[in-house]
Amino acid sequence: MATKIYVPCDTTALSMGADDVASRIEHHAGVQGVAIELVRNGSRGLFWLEPMVEVETASGRIGYGPVEPDDVQGLVEAGLFDGASDHPLFLGPVADIPYLKRQQRLTFSRIGITDPLSIADYRAHGGFDGLETAISREPQGIVDEVKASGLRGRGGAAFPTGIKWQTVHDEPWQQQKYIVCNADEGDSGTFADRLAMECDPYMLIEGMTIAGLAVGATQGFIYLRSEYPVAHRILNEAIRRAEAEGYLGQDVRGSGRAFDLEVRLAAGAYICGEETSLLESLEGKRGLVRAKPPLPAIKGLFGQPTVVNNVLSFAAAPFILAQGGQAYADYGMGKSRGTLPIQLAGNIRQGGLIELAFGVSLREILEDFGGGTFSGRPMKAVQVGGPLMAYMPESQWNTPMDYEAFGQLGAGIGHGGVVVFDDTVDMGEQARFAMEFCTVESCGKCTPCRIGSVRGMKVIDRIRAGENREANLVLLEELCETMVDGSLCAMGGMTPFPVQSVMTHFPDDLTA
Ligand SMILES: Cc1cc2nc3c(=O)[nH]c(=O)nc-3n(C[C@H](O)[C@H](O)[C@H](O)COP(=O)(O)O)c2cc1C
Ligand code: SF4
Repeated sequence: MATKIYVPCDTTALSMGADDVASRIEHHAGVQGVAIELVRNGSRGLFWLEPMVEVETASGRIGYGPVEPDDVQGLVEAGLFDGASDHPLFLGPVADIPYLKRQQRLTFSRIGITDPLSIADYRAHGGFDGLETAISREPQGIVDEVKASGLRGRGGAAFPTGIKWQTVHDEPWQQQKYIVCNADEGDSGTFADRLAMECDPYMLIEGMTIAGLAVGATQGFIYLRSEYPVAHRILNEAIRRAEAEGYLGQDVRGSGRAFDLEVRLAAGAYICGEETSLLESLEGKRGLVRAKPPLPAIKGLFGQPTVVNNVLSFAAAPFILAQGGQAYADYGMGKSRGTLPIQLAGNIRQGGLIELAFGVSLREILEDFGGGTFSGRPMKAVQVGGPLMAYMPESQWNTPMDYEAFGQLGAGIGHGGVVVFDDTVDMGEQARFAMEFCTVESCGKCTPCRIGSVRGMKVIDRIRAGENREANLVLLEELCETMVDGSLCAMGGMTPFPVQSVMTHFPDDLTA
C-alpha cells in the first residue's frame, strides 16, 4: 500500500518552498522505489514549522518541520517514509504538538487534516452535516439556532449574527436577497480568513448556503482580497466541484431551494472591507462608504436585503447547525460565546493560528503559545484587532479575550489579529502611522477623517519635533475627539484609538 505523505498547499507553506519540497519527496520516493500518495493538505496554522511534512503511520500522523527543499534527501535517508524519529526535524505525532493539542478547534477542526478540494474528505470529517440539518428545518429554525449559539460577527464589529439574519429573513421573500461574504481581510496580522478559504473552502460554501436557506437568498458573492491568488484558485475550483455534486445550484441537495455562488476580486483598498463600501465596490463603483441607515440587511447589494458577514462568521455556521447552537454557546465567557480564531503575528517566535474559547488571557497567548518575541528582546506593546485598535501595555495583558473586557479598556478584539512589538519599537512613530494609514485609506467622504488624519500626522510631527509641545498635545486630544465623534464610519472614528493609547500608555515615546 502506498504511504500517505502530506505537504501543505496554502500560501504560507508555498512561500516557504512547499512545492519544491513536494516534488523532491516524489523524486526521492521514486529513487528508493517507495510507493507514496502525496496529498496537498492545508496548513495546520503552526507557521514557524512550515512547510510541515506529515507521514501517515500505524501510530498516527508524524510531523517534520520546518522542511526546506535541501532537507528532503537527508529526511528520506533517515526513514521519513516510515515516520522515523532519528532526525532533527522530527516533531513526533502531530496531534500531540502542544500548540495544537491545547487548542479548541471548532471552526478549524479540519484544517491541515484534509485535502482542501476533496468533497469526500470534507464529508468524512463532518462536512455538510450542518447543511443537511438546515435543509431539514424551516428557515426560522435555522435563524433560531444561530441566535442560540450567541455567535457575534468575527469581522470586527461583533454584531450578533442571528439578529442580522433575522432582519434579512423578515424582509419580504418575493424579492431578490443576497448573501455577501466579506473576505477582504485587511487588518494587520490577520490570516484566518485566508486559511479557512485555502484549507477548508467547502466550510465557507456550506456556511453561506446555510445563510441563503435561512433568509431566502438565492445568490451569494465572496468579495475576496485581491492579494489572495491561491484562495481565489481554490475557491473557484471548490465552487465548481460543489456545483457538480449538487451542493450549489438550482436545487441544493434535492431541497428544491436554489443557491449560487461567485467570487469577486476586491479593489485592493482597506476601506473596501467596510461593509457599505464593499457593497459599492461589488456593484462596480468606487468604494465610498454609504450612510447608515438604511442597513445593508434592509437595502444592501443593488438595494436589496443582504446579509454581509465575515468569512469566520459564515464558517461557524456549519458547526452550529450540525451540533446545535447550545454546543457552540457552551464555549466562551459572558457575551462572547464560542471560540475565537486568534492570529498571532508580528515580533513573535511561534506565530500562527490559535483557536480557543473566549476567556483565555492575552498573556497566555503571548507566552504559552507565542513563546516570547522572535528577536528575544522584551515585549513592549501588543495591538489586538487591527490598525484601528489600541496598543496594549503589559499591565493589560492579563485581560481575558472577551469583547466587553477589551472594550472597557478602550481596546478591541476585532478580527482576532494579535501583533507583537518588542522594546525597540518607537510608539510615537506608531501613533503617527495610525494617522498616516488613515490619510492613505480614507474614502474621503467626510471631513473629520479626510482632513483630520492629515492634520493629526502634522500635529504629531510638531510634538515630536518639540514645537509648542503642550499646546499641540491638547490639540491632538481635541482632534482625536472630533474624529471619534464626527466621522461617518469606523475608519475615521477609530483611527484615534491607537493614538490615544500611545498618549496614555507610552507618553514618553510621543515626546521623545
Ligand atoms: C475600515 C473598515 C475595514 C473593515 N474591514 C473588514 C474586513 O476586511 N473584513 C471584515 O470581515 N470586516 C471588515 N470590516 C467590518 C465590516 O464593516 C462589517 O462589520 C463586517 O463585514 C460584518 O460581518 P460580521 O458581522 O460577520 O463581522 C471593516 C470595517 C471598517 C470600518
Ligand atoms: S470616516 Fe473616513 S472612510 Fe469613513 S466615510 Fe468618512 S472619510 Fe470615508
